[in-house]
Amino acid sequence: MSSERTCTIERHFIDQQYKHPEATGELTRLMHQLAFAAKQITKEVRSAGLSDILGAAGHTNVQGEAVQKLDEISNDVIYRAMDHAGVLCCMASEEREKMIPIPSEFTSGKYTLAFDPLDGSSNIDANINVGTIFSIHKRVSPDGTPGTEADLLQTGRSQVVAGYIVYGSSTMMVYTTGHGVNGFTLEPSLGEFLLSHPNMRIPDYGKYFSINMGNYHYWSEGVRKYIDHITTPDSEHGTPYSQRYIGSMIADVHRTLLYGGLFMYPFDCRDPKHPKAKLRLLYEASPMSMIIEQAGGLSTDGKQSILDVVPHGLHDRVQLFVGARKNVDELLGFLNQYDQ
Ligand code: AHG
Ligand code: MN
Ligand code: MN
Repeated sequence: MSSERTCTIERHFIDQQYKHPEATGELTRLMHQLAFAAKQITKEVRSAGLSDILGAAGHTNVQGEAVQKLDEISNDVIYRAMDHAGVLCCMASEEREKMIPIPSEFTSGKYTLAFDPLDGSSNIDANINVGTIFSIHKRVSPDGTPGTEADLLQTGRSQVVAGYIVYGSSTMMVYTTGHGVNGFTLEPSLGEFLLSHPNMRIPDYGKYFSINMGNYHYWSEGVRKYIDHITTPDSEHGTPYSQRYIGSMIADVHRTLLYGGLFMYPFDCRDPKHPKAKLRLLYEASPMSMIIEQAGGLSTDGKQSILDVVPHGLHDRVQLFVGARKNVDELLGFLNQYDQ
């Protein structure tokens, strides 16, 4: 067994700290707490199909409360792991409309956390992969004061850490601090995330595309022409590509990172003056885009890198195309020709 394979996520972070003598250890603590939350959510997700059986077998809820949905459970697990660690000044979650403050009894830290507690949760009852996405920024307001929304409303470019945890056939945490991408697989009997995918690189090109084809007639002309192109047999261009669409962005982007190709969630252009996006910038598009770009791929909203899109609200939505460099470039050719 190589030494890389026995590197825990904590050891990996500590090693990184040695390379940055100015580091205070706060990010290491933050990642430790996130890994702890990921293990708890893994436990919940792994027994998701059992909750009714176990409930009937003895776990009586005298209040008659409905079983909390896993979105809420995951949200609470992350909040409880992160609120008292002394490293965050505020948080934002897909499941909460407003900024989540750090309780006054806990020390306010210098980082912010935006997260999607459970991505793809509509898939959970079908036993399909789901995940958690997280994005960490350094605050812009003065240290020692309560965090503000402005601390969270920063571009993806200035993320300090971005990552996700996919609860798939195994649980895996993938993260970047802006120096490449590393993936850790949870070893269930040890309860440790071990470095299994060091220095992940997305292939330059892949013959896969991932999009909800049911929306075909709602897309812009450029997106439709591109999809027509990659689904029309042509031996010179190597088309058609194969479609893969799970409906959990996290799983679709994770596969794209490993195999190449691209993932798309374009605007719904039914009202051309007010195109509607679905995916959220701060805790979905931005962290997944940083991972892909750090692995050598590209992200775009059609005009610029997702990492340069300026957020105005916590739940801003954005049109997203992300994946292998050549695939995204090929798509941009169509958008530039038909959508400008
Ligand atoms: P969430 O479960 O966090 O609300 O996110 C669901 C998102 C994303 O995971 C996925 O790519 C997309 O919704 C699927 O949307 P469609 O069902 O419209 O294809
Ligand atoms: Mn989501
Ligand atoms: Mn979600």
